[in-house]
This record gives sequence, structure tokens and C-alpha cells, in this order.
Amino acid sequence: MDIKNKNIAIVGSTGILGTEYVNFLSSKGANVIIGDIDFKKCEVYANEMKAKFKTNPLALYIDLYDEKSIEFYFKDLISYYGKLDVLINNSQVKPEGFYNSFEDYSKETLMKVIEGNTVGMALSCREASKIFLKQGYGNIINVSSIYGITGADQRIYDGVKNIYNPDEKLSSPISYAISKAGILNMTKYLASYYREKGIRINCLTPGGVLDNHDKVFIENYSYRTLLGRMANRDEFNGSILFLVSDASSYMTGANIVVDGGWSAI
Ligand SMILES: NC(=O)c1ccc[n+]([C@@H]2O[C@H](COP(=O)([O-])OP(=O)(O)OC[C@H]3O[C@@H](n4cnc5c(N)ncnc54)[C@H](O)[C@@H]3O)[C@@H](O)[C@H]2O)c1
Repeated sequence: MDIKNKNIAIVGSTGILGTEYVNFLSSKGANVIIGDIDFKKCEVYANEMKAKFKTNPLALYIDLYDEKSIEFYFKDLISYYGKLDVLINNSQVKPEGFYNSFEDYSKETLMKVIEGNTVGMALSCREASKIFLKQGYGNIINVSSIYGITGADQRIYDGVKNIYNPDEKLSSPISYAISKAGILNMTKYLASYYREKGIRINCLTPGGVLDNHDKVFIENYSYRTLLGRMANRDEFNGSILFLVSDASSYMTGANIVVDGGWSAI
């Protein structure tokens, strides 16, 4: 599982799990290309990683709604390093109206979520694949969610405060379900498309991560898992390390589910 000096691009690097992956992979000696729409934070983390782990990180702006910016992200990282080993597509978007009930869900919001989460990810895979084809090797990890493999359990949101947007009732919206399910089959499609080309594409499916959530939500959520709790931020690191390293060399088109048993029942 040695990843020292591997160049690993993370798209969606400055949120809850992105920062965790940046820190963890840097601690193992990888050079992380810290990509996000929030460029200021990317710069802060790049400086932090350089100082803490003496790696060679790179902060790069990327906006998944903007095809040109996706193209530039990959061009810029190649002009800097000359090669790319791994891409982790970890971002998610939450445009206005994201938490609306299904009856009030506008076509615009639905399209925006699918565009940001799924179409943007496909374009990111496309640009990385051009590099990987030239190199003759490459590795992509796409991040889905338990709500991409199961129907959202809407019962756990009853009477719960929305910490992300207090003006909207917390729920897991239809747009998230569609976009995250799409990521799973995109992964299988691309694994088959790039068969025998040295390019592996897999999916990571996390369960809910403990944040500053409402107490009722934590209780409701925990009850639905077999381990009786939400995940801690660092509990996907092991799977990420396995997927980005050569330890997973015989794996492609697969999905690793790390959900405390949520989807087992
Ligand atoms: N946190 C959880 O409980 C959980 C559970 C299951 C799956 N996931 C998945 O794991 C991944 C990470 O989750 P998280 O909780 O850290 O998310 P987050 O919302 O904290 O982070 C998302 C990141 O994406 C970036 N982003 C938003 N719009 C963008 C755009 N247009 N272009 C580029 N970047 C953009 C944000 O700036 C942010 O850094 C997501 O794909 C999410 O769906 C998370």
C-alpha cells in the first residue's frame, strides 16, 4: 500500500471528507492535487501539507459546472508534474432548493444537481482518461453514497433541524438519489470501456458521517445502522488507501460500501 510520491488528484478537496483525504494521503507521502471551487482553501491546505509532510502538493481551481475549468485543471496538473497516478472524484453540489420536497422540486435544481454531481464527474473522468491513455496506466475512484444504492430512508428526517440550510427542511432529495446512482453505473461503464488499457475505475460508497447534526437525527440514523452509530471522518481512509494503492490492482468496476451495515438491512 505504498503511495509515496504518487500524484493523486482530489476533486472536492475542501469539505468534510475531502480535507480528511488530503491530510491522510499526504501523511503517506503522496503529492495531492488539491482541487476545489473554493481555491482559497485549496491554497491553505497545500501550504499546510507542504509544511507538515514535506510533500509536493498543488492547489488548483476547478468548477464542475464549467467544462473549460475541468480541462484546465488536468492540463495544469500535467504541466506541473508530467504525470497523474490517481483521480478521486469526491465533490458534491447543493444548489438553491436542494432540500425541497419532491412536489416542489424544480427542473432547474434537479438539472443543477445532476450536472454538478454526475455530468461534471463524467467530464472529470474524461479528461483524466486522456492522460491515463497516453501514460498507459491510471486509477479513478468515484464517490457515490448509500443513497445511490438504496432508497433514502425518509423516516429519519422527521422533526430534525437542517444544519446545512436552516431555511429548508432536512431530507434526502430526489436529485441526490438520481445523481449518486448514476455515478455507480458510470463507474462500471468506464471500467468496461477502458478494459485492458491499464486504467482501473472503482467506486467508494460511504454512509453518513458524524457532523454537527441534530441529536434526533444522530439517534434516528444510528438506529438504522448495524454498528449503531454514524461514521467518524477518518473511517473511509483505509478504503481510500486500498483503492488508490496497488493493493487493489485486480479491482475494477467495483464498489466498496463502507456504511456501518446501513445497506445490509
Ligand atoms: N458526509 C457524508 O455523510 C457523506 C455520506 C455519503 C456520501 N458522501 C459523499 O462523499 C463526498 C464528500 O462528502 P462531504 O460530506 O465531504 O461533502 P462536502 O459538501 O463537505 O464537500 C463537497 C466539496 O465539493 C466542493 N464543490 C462544490 N461545488 C463544486 C463545484 N461546482 N466544483 C468543484 N467542487 C465543488 C465543495 O467546495 C466541497 O469542498 C460527496 O461526494 C458526498 O456525496 C458523503
